[in-house]
Amino acid sequence: MIIGSQLRFFKETGSTNDEALLLLKGENVAEGTVIYTDFQSSGRGQTGNSWISETGKNLLFSIILYPETISPEEQFVISMAMSLGICDFLDRYHSGSRIKWPNDIFINDDKIAGVLIENQIVGNIISNSVTGIGLNVNQESFPPVFPRPVSLKKAAGRDLDTGLCLKQILSDLDKRYTELLYGDREIIPGEYLSRLYRYKEWHPYRSGSRDFTGMITDVDSSGKITIQEKDGKVRDFLFRELEYII
Ligand code: BTN
Repeated sequence: MIIGSQLRFFKETGSTNDEALLLLKGENVAEGTVIYTDFQSSGRGQTGNSWISETGKNLLFSIILYPETISPEEQFVISMAMSLGICDFLDRYHSGSRIKWPNDIFINDDKIAGVLIENQIVGNIISNSVTGIGLNVNQESFPPVFPRPVSLKKAAGRDLDTGLCLKQILSDLDKRYTELLYGDREIIPGEYLSRLYRYKEWHPYRSGSRDFTGMITDVDSSGKITIQEKDGKVRDFLFRELEYII
């Protein structure tokens, strides 16, 4: 077991990703070390957003990895593997979770988990990678934000043991990470597509000031998404270049 080989708990912290990045600056940290907490005072989300979570109700953790055999050009496969691990965990309680590109986890049209991956690249090597995951477990009410948040309690219809959930999700993430490093590399991108929210369906999107209807046809290991438009044109988008209209 790599992920979860070492656990470090903080009753409260600013951000588990920041704790992980701080740890990496100092001592030698074992691969798979997990930093988890009950409360973050400055939890961070993607694109500078904050991640707000009620004390002790949800999963808030970060994993330190050294994926040195994965090249920086294909670094999105780490994100794919982590998203799939989260879906494997959710399958234990509720089937049908989907990955919204790049790595939000959805149940129907509502967001249950978010992932913030911070890779440090030195030369042509990913020298370390911090995967921060926030997953709503028992929280019942949320601020009115977009996309609408949902919790596992709401989806599964019962209160859950967050300690058990942490154990289970770490085991599921570990299986996917091991598969990524030592298994058939093609499995992960293929399964990512089969879990993708709105894959091969027509939906509205926005890029800059242009709204259009398109169909997702691919996401590659660099993280680029390919969309076919109604007029037959096929375009690629990078993270932040495409907005979903839900
Ligand atoms: C997003 O959906 O925008 C990503 C949210 C990631 C939140 C998690 S909670 C644990 C870890 N620590 C942080 O500060 N952020 C991540």
